Amino acid sequence: EKYNEQYRSKVHFSPETGWANDPNGMVYYDGEYHLFFQHNPDTTIWGPMHWGHAVSKDLIHWEQLPIALYPDSLGWIFSGSAVIDWENTSDLGENGVPPMVAIFTYHNRELENTGTDKFQSQGIAYSLDKGRSWTKYENNPVLPNPGIRDFRDPKVSWHPESEKWIMTLAVLDHINFYSSPNLIDWTLESEFGEGIGAHGGVWECPDLFPLQVEGTDEIKWVLLVSINPGGPNGGSATQYFVGEFDGHVFEPHGERTKWLDYGKDNYAGVTWSDIPDEDGRRILIGWMNNWQYANQVPTSTWRGAFTLPRTLKLTEIYNDYLLVSSPVKEFEKLKSGSKKILGSIISGMQEINMKPQFPMEINLNFNTENNTAMNFGERFGIILSNEKKESLKIGYDNLNKLFFIDRSNGGWDSPNQEFAGNHFAPYIVNSSSLSFKIIIDNSSVELFAVDGLVVMTEQFFSTKEFTSISLFSEKGEVELLDGEISKLAEIW
Ligand code: FRU
Repeated sequence: EKYNEQYRSKVHFSPETGWANDPNGMVYYDGEYHLFFQHNPDTTIWGPMHWGHAVSKDLIHWEQLPIALYPDSLGWIFSGSAVIDWENTSDLGENGVPPMVAIFTYHNRELENTGTDKFQSQGIAYSLDKGRSWTKYENNPVLPNPGIRDFRDPKVSWHPESEKWIMTLAVLDHINFYSSPNLIDWTLESEFGEGIGAHGGVWECPDLFPLQVEGTDEIKWVLLVSINPGGPNGGSATQYFVGEFDGHVFEPHGERTKWLDYGKDNYAGVTWSDIPDEDGRRILIGWMNNWQYANQVPTSTWRGAFTLPRTLKLTEIYNDYLLVSSPVKEFEKLKSGSKKILGSIISGMQEINMKPQFPMEINLNFNTENNTAMNFGERFGIILSNEKKESLKIGYDNLNKLFFIDRSNGGWDSPNQEFAGNHFAPYIVNSSSLSFKIIIDNSSVELFAVDGLVVMTEQFFSTKEFTSISLFSEKGEVELLDGEISKLAEIW
């Protein structure tokens, strides 16, 4: 039996020991999904960055492997991506084996301490044995610093139309796009971000990919940009843009700022590279944390866990293109022992006769017709609580028109008090029912509402186990149409 510590995730990846932040270099190759990640193996706080490594055959069960990339004389290894160079454009392959190439940021601490701005540059490394051993390219960096402090987190993909690699790079408060024939020589194509999107903090960890609009054969390009601080509920969060990309320039549709996840704990998420065409999914994983308190969360020998891998889809709705997220379908197989919750009218608190046992999944479907104060309570949803009167509330607030996760009384708070709080995702109901899919692990909750149109990911650290679970409706009634609670098998 592995991983029985308090707060240890049972269906999410976390490192065995040490610190983890951003997911890096996710690539699929030869039956394995690779997940690299920002890792400080020696302590549980951020510091000299390595690329930790884990692999999975199903995106659910993970095996942690030895560290992939160590700091060297050019610097610590910050975030980046990985691709399979199928055509060996880089000439780093051997004997017909295409190289797995990692493109990452070097962060040079010594240079930073001299006061120059030129301490971040992009380097590459390659593996010819399925990511088990890595060689750094001999002429690193491949993209030196032009004199800009924040110059990092390269996400690279092959652009078939122009037959070039495209690098999407976070540069201070905007994005630079570069192209390359070989992953080594890079040319600046364009810049994006001035006067559009959220700018409450520095732009980080971008991703750019095409996605089919559901129910059409139209393709749009999605640009993810993490931002810290400046998220909708404070601190770190990920915004996105939808538009056109022609290999040179990204042209966004619309002006509205859109958020991938409104919860406080989904940051630096990017998507897998090289998912086979016959699969065709666009799969994202994020770091389940927020820089406001990431270095303080009260886990013991490790710090930092990742979201569930999520399939992203694009839907045209409300005169806009919006991302829809759902746990990858492989996750379904962890479900067992499902128990139905019968439909009923909820008013006040109604305890469900079942001890909450994590990990678990809760599916609820509420009636939203006849939307009056009496039969549609101001706030309704589900509440977990313990004998210390700590609680975690998840629901919809019909007065303020928003989904919320309320952990203001959930147990642990960070020294700066940025952790506890009631966090929201605006949404105006315009259908006759409202669906909630809620996945709760030992210290995290992921809410996929309205079939994944609204997402909130939040950690929680109750000081005692939650022992009761209730449906609630404040100031009025709401009808639960049906529900289901399922146990989830642990992945370790
Ligand atoms: C985002 C980030 C990246 C950087 C990495 C360093 O969380 O700040 O921009 O590459 O973390 O660990």
